[in-house]
Amino acid sequence: MPLPSWMEVNSKNHLTIAGVDLVELAEKYGTPLYVYNEDLIRSQCRLYREELARHYPRGEIIYAGKAFLTLAMCRLLQQEGLSLDVVSGGELYTAIQAGFPMERVYFHGNNKSDAELALAVKVGVGRIVVDSFMELERLNREAERQGKQAEILLRVKPGIAAHTHHYIQTGQEDSKFGLGISDGQALEGIKLARALPNLVLRGLHCHIGSQIMTAEPFCLAAETMMDFMQSVRAATGVLLQELDLGGGLGIRYTGEDEPCGISDLLPLLARTVKEKAREHAYPYPKLMLEPGRSIVGEAGVTLYTVGTIKDIPGVRKYISVDGGMMDNLRTALYGARYEAVLANRARDPAAETVTVAGKACESGDILIRDLALPPVSPGDLLLVFSTGAYHFSMYSQYNRNPRPAVVFLRRGKAELVVRRESYQDLINLDCIPAHLREDLASPGAVSDGKRRGRAKGN
Ligand code: LLP
Repeated sequence: MPLPSWMEVNSKNHLTIAGVDLVELAEKYGTPLYVYNEDLIRSQCRLYREELARHYPRGEIIYAGKAFLTLAMCRLLQQEGLSLDVVSGGELYTAIQAGFPMERVYFHGNNKSDAELALAVKVGVGRIVVDSFMELERLNREAERQGKQAEILLRVKPGIAAHTHHYIQTGQEDSKFGLGISDGQALEGIKLARALPNLVLRGLHCHIGSQIMTAEPFCLAAETMMDFMQSVRAATGVLLQELDLGGGLGIRYTGEDEPCGISDLLPLLARTVKEKAREHAYPYPKLMLEPGRSIVGEAGVTLYTVGTIKDIPGVRKYISVDGGMMDNLRTALYGARYEAVLANRARDPAAETVTVAGKACESGDILIRDLALPPVSPGDLLLVFSTGAYHFSMYSQYNRNPRPAVVFLRRGKAELVVRRESYQDLINLDCIPAHLREDLASPGAVSDGKRRGRAKGN
């Protein structure tokens, strides 16, 4: 993959982002390190907002926090005028703590707990995106208990299977998310929502999947949803005023990926909704989109330090890095493909083919197979592209590896937005129950009254 236009090579043959030398950055913050080009996140936010505003009279861009969410990210979104989709009490709490305006928060999830619903109603999130009959009833009870009306969207399944990994498809009929259009459940849900006194149904939501590379599935979803809104009006007289088409636009992970651009998708989508509205003489609904990956995905990269190198003659050469499936679960989970370069020898020509392995105790912890690199040595700095979405947010502490830091780069400066976990952080939540605190001096002793007694008797 050619270097993105916003990466440069300096006189030391080091890669730079926003004028920051990545070798110096790695020395300062350590590796693995999640690195974001802050201006690129901002320009993606603006592109979405401006393109929607240009092509559709009333719209809203709602960033999907599951892709990458921290306090700093909430502040950035607020500055850029985006709304926020949260999917758990923890994401909602992050938004609350960041001071994000609650009326611009959309609360998603197929199994929100009573406590999560109570918190969402209490803080007054803008919309709760309800996913099931049970949730309609539970939310109505909670809103009643708090003496409030909850404004909702109902999530429906438009029955579209987008061409993407089956784990990240969601719009087809056999999915745990939403209520089906074709089996009549969505219509039943709408009737129930209208009948419940503490709910105000504002519109519909759908999300057909993720890492979708072409505009057609989105336009198909828009058509299906508009047709459904029309049939809801015909059957019940209800005019739904909001249409949230979810997220899902793909990004470039490797040179082979050619995603449809934001500036190509939005006019097509807007035109589809407008044409359908005219066809059905339906007032233009408010149109919402929930991009996650296409806002932060390409703006993030991960830096690793190369450690052990193992050349197995006639088989392959493994280079191991100091991270792996803990900070990038996508290779193990979806067989995702990535590309990488050496950030400390940026202009050196490729000379060998290697396989990049992580350090987790799993044979499947392989980040990249068959990557062409200059001759690699321990200590080299490997940069993996397009790790800004669903990496930090999906990371784990497997093998008790502390989680990496996150930095934003802008105008020649690096700002820490999440500090690196320490070993102490790893054990901070651990508790030692009383019976395991005793007898530390005598290995093998079990502080259970009976067994100790027996041991003594023997
Ligand atoms: N809205 C809803 C309701 C969603 O479920 C999602 C993603 C989005 C918006 C944002 O989709 P995006 O624009 O980021 O594609 N872990 C997987 C992706 C899971 C996506 C889940 N839902 C991955 O790493 O590819």
